[in-house]
Amino acid sequence: MDRPAERADKRRASPLEPLLREVLDGLRAEQPTLPCKLFYDEPGSQLYEQITALEEYYPFRAEVEILERHGAQIARALGEGALVVEYGSGSSVKTRLLLDCLHACAGYVPIDISREHLQQAARGIAQHYPHLHVLALCADFTEPVTLPARVAALRPRVAFFPGSTIGNFDPPAATRLLRNIRELVGRGGHLLIGVDVPKDRATLELAYDDPHGVTARFNLNILSHVNRLFGADLDPGCFRHEAIWNAAHGRIEMHLRCTRDHHAMLAGERLAFSRGQSIWTESSYKYPPGQFHAIGAAAGFAPESVWFDSRQRYSLHLMRAV
Ligand SMILES: C[S@@+](CC[C@H](N)C(=O)[O-])C[C@H]1O[C@@H](n2cnc3c(N)ncnc32)[C@H](O)[C@@H]1O
Repeated sequence: MDRPAERADKRRASPLEPLLREVLDGLRAEQPTLPCKLFYDEPGSQLYEQITALEEYYPFRAEVEILERHGAQIARALGEGALVVEYGSGSSVKTRLLLDCLHACAGYVPIDISREHLQQAARGIAQHYPHLHVLALCADFTEPVTLPARVAALRPRVAFFPGSTIGNFDPPAATRLLRNIRELVGRGGHLLIGVDVPKDRATLELAYDDPHGVTARFNLNILSHVNRLFGADLDPGCFRHEAIWNAAHGRIEMHLRCTRDHHAMLAGERLAFSRGQSIWTESSYKYPPGQFHAIGAAAGFAPESVWFDSRQRYSLHLMRAV
């Protein structure tokens, strides 16, 4: 029988239980998968930062360009004294471009799953904007979000969701996530969201499979993260990175392709991967504006504006909760 201290230890370990289930179910599926939120431990977040600096990874610079060129117009549309809640805030680089334009922003709540990265970014924002309430929330934003009490009464609310992270969800899951955001901002609240658009295969595949191998390291790091979280022994050396544009579904798919038969232990379970089999680690859906408006409408948002970068590679949508 467990002693009280052991029972307490088990209770403390339980928050990882649902994630472990999700990982095991995914890896045992006919097409093995891993949830892409597992990219983002501290090494993964650092690798993502490196990706954003790559010439090939156009979405980051395109979105920065849009915010720089249209910030004043965006700020006018959002009005005064808004509470900004950012989904998947990462290093909060784009946040600064938005905050610099906003009039009398009332507070800033960055939400991210990558704890150290989030805390460091939030400290940077608080130092740079000393009069702003900055309350970082380390959470999985696919779950309903409860705002900290200190800012819960602030209105209007603006959800800022840059980085084309919404593309990581298939359309039904994206609709569910936007519905949660719609609940959070309330009627009349806004959503400012970055959405990548379909384009030629070569540009897309290069953006997700750069010749420097940074995206490959980012993809492979998911295995090391699973190993660290669950004491598993998945061998990144048995897999290679792959990024494919699936035109029929309008998405980039990132996979880890097994280069030789491999067995691994995860939480006492034996997993077998055969040569040639892949683990599907990420989708990145690309939407023309009309298609994204339909997803927004299904979630309770009406389109207000959409801006593109000068090369029409990327879009930033402003939507109002109706
Ligand atoms: C593609 S990056 C975008 C980062 C930043 N917003 C940008 O535009 O450069 C996705 C960000 O969302 C965070 N993230 C991914 N899935 C998440 C989840 N389920 N809950 C909370 N944060 C998540 C990651 O840690 C990462 O910082």
